[in-house]
Amino acid sequence: MSEKKEVYQPNPEFAKNARVKSMDEYRALVQSSEDDYEGFWGKMALEKLSWRRPFTSVLDESKAPFYRWFDEGELNVSEQCIDRHLKHSKNKTAILFEADNGESRAITYLELYRGVNKMANLIKDKYGIQKGDRVIIYMPMIPEAAFAMLACARVGAIHSVVFGGFSAEALRDRIEDTEASLIITADGAFRKGKPYMLKPAVDKALQMGCLSVKNVCVVKRNFEPIEIVEGRDTIYNDLIDNISSECEAEAMQSEDPLFLLYTSGSTGKPKGVKHSSAGYILWAQMTMEWVFDVKDNDTFWCTADIGWITGHTYIIYGPLAMGATTLMFEGVPTYPDAGRAWSIVQKHRVNQFYTAPTAIRMLHKVGESEPAKYDLSSLKVLGTVGEPIDPPAWKWYYEVVGGSRCSIVDTYWQTETGGHVISPLPGATPIKPGCATLPLPGIDAQILDESGNRCATNQGGKLCIVKPWPSMIRGVWGDDDRFISSYFSDIIKDGKSVYFTGDGAVYDEDGYITITGRVDDVVNVSGHRLGTAEIEAAINKSDKVAEVAAVGRAHEIKGESLFAFVVLKQSRAEDEKLKINTILKQEIGAFATCDDIVFVEALPKTRSGKIMRRILKSIAKGEKITQDISTLEDSSVVQNIIDIVANN
Ligand code: PRX
Repeated sequence: MSEKKEVYQPNPEFAKNARVKSMDEYRALVQSSEDDYEGFWGKMALEKLSWRRPFTSVLDESKAPFYRWFDEGELNVSEQCIDRHLKHSKNKTAILFEADNGESRAITYLELYRGVNKMANLIKDKYGIQKGDRVIIYMPMIPEAAFAMLACARVGAIHSVVFGGFSAEALRDRIEDTEASLIITADGAFRKGKPYMLKPAVDKALQMGCLSVKNVCVVKRNFEPIEIVEGRDTIYNDLIDNISSECEAEAMQSEDPLFLLYTSGSTGKPKGVKHSSAGYILWAQMTMEWVFDVKDNDTFWCTADIGWITGHTYIIYGPLAMGATTLMFEGVPTYPDAGRAWSIVQKHRVNQFYTAPTAIRMLHKVGESEPAKYDLSSLKVLGTVGEPIDPPAWKWYYEVVGGSRCSIVDTYWQTETGGHVISPLPGATPIKPGCATLPLPGIDAQILDESGNRCATNQGGKLCIVKPWPSMIRGVWGDDDRFISSYFSDIIKDGKSVYFTGDGAVYDEDGYITITGRVDDVVNVSGHRLGTAEIEAAINKSDKVAEVAAVGRAHEIKGESLFAFVVLKQSRAEDEKLKINTILKQEIGAFATCDDIVFVEALPKTRSGKIMRRILKSIAKGEKITQDISTLEDSSVVQNIIDIVANN
């Protein structure tokens, strides 16, 4: 199944000073976690975190799969990320902000402390936010977004960041599900030299419902005109100067939720993934240290948006928990030209650069020779995340961006895992293009077959995490049954339900894991996770549409793109295509539009009325149909669709 891949050894110069220096050291860590699982995690939690009150047990499995970690322990995540660094690093840059227009601003740990405390006092005193309350953050990539997240952590509120690319409708769904009483937003920000807006989407969402919302706090960033609803909206910039920069951090239990983050599943609406305080921050910090091997004077740059889990863990929580300098970029990597990303690396002497394969493919395509124009010698580690990376993109990244000197860490993880779970360690693991390599120490990731047995080499199976781990999802907000059915109902191993990621994977002859992609109805468009059920529900809102099935197909830049097969109620109207994408923009966001829409007469269904998606996936990919179509209600439908797609 897998052809033999080239192997690249870690740079020996880099390995000398790395935290994990060799495969022997890696194996010793794995061994220690296997010998005494709770001992391993308990030791890490004591070493890495600053506890207000120590925990009394490491892992409580009595209510599995609702696992509890570090019970009775008390801490505050904002103290982990800020206060404890003040003693030695108060003047160190915590956040290095690079604006769209090329201006930059360094925020020290002391300034971060003040900014977060002021915001915490504001949300507590002005808006009455208390421990356990939910706060929606709908913000651009500006330092105030970090202040807002950490301020919530400080007062014990549960934040839910909504990616700024989501529409008013998607925002409304998330607000309503969390029953948030406060929204922190901005007028907008700048992209490609022009202002763009966020506040109007908040106004629209609130016009559609969201009765729980009492206050909207608006940070002015682009100073474009906005509507202000009296009694509901207040301007952060007008209030913040007169607020105290001291705010006592709330004592939080280890298991108190830190945040909710909505993500797509194979069925229904997006689900609110719930993360804990102690377990989450522990793993955010440990993976920063191991996988990126960030050193004291390093500058770490993760290009994600704070609206996704990568932004949570590797722009905000992980780097700050370890006291690092994290770069936050407002703009896009191709403005003012295709060299922008590399010019930022040169300007700030970035040491670790972390991005998605989509961005790598795009930067390669639009600016193959751009990296050569800049001094990229500061780079030590290059990361990728979010989707499989194809070997040609990997090689360009390795050779042209990294000068064949940097390790590439292909980090596999999910919103639900909180941090990396399978990844090379840059000073230890020999790497192979397109391969996430091995589970991190402490993570019992295994590829299993349907009966829960470990798969053999080259035998594809389901990627599972057999033992609970500290940064794992703690639940789906408001829906315990969905938590169990989404993650713990597929595979039983040794009599126990194990966590199933939704991904397929395969071991190679060295035991390395290659991710083969989702096995459920989740499509990964430019690293954005979308459930086809969500796409279909949105398209179905058109009164012209009788039925729809959406699937993913391979796309050169985006990894996957959306392909919709639509049955119209009446005649085939070409302008309906445009309308379908308008609906998707409205219901979800511009990133969720379909590249291909075909109007068909019927969808392939079984006699019991189930749509045979596998057939549609094959047609979308242009593959030969090998599936048995004899069970279809009307098998002629298949040829009909093939003909329509061919003539489209
Ligand atoms: O399919 C896997 C893919 O992204 C999914 C998780 O998406 P999300 O929760 O949005 O988080 C993305 C950022 C962590 C996974 O189920 N995925 C993530 N990383 C990789 C990957 N696929 C292949 N290789 C990766 N390194």
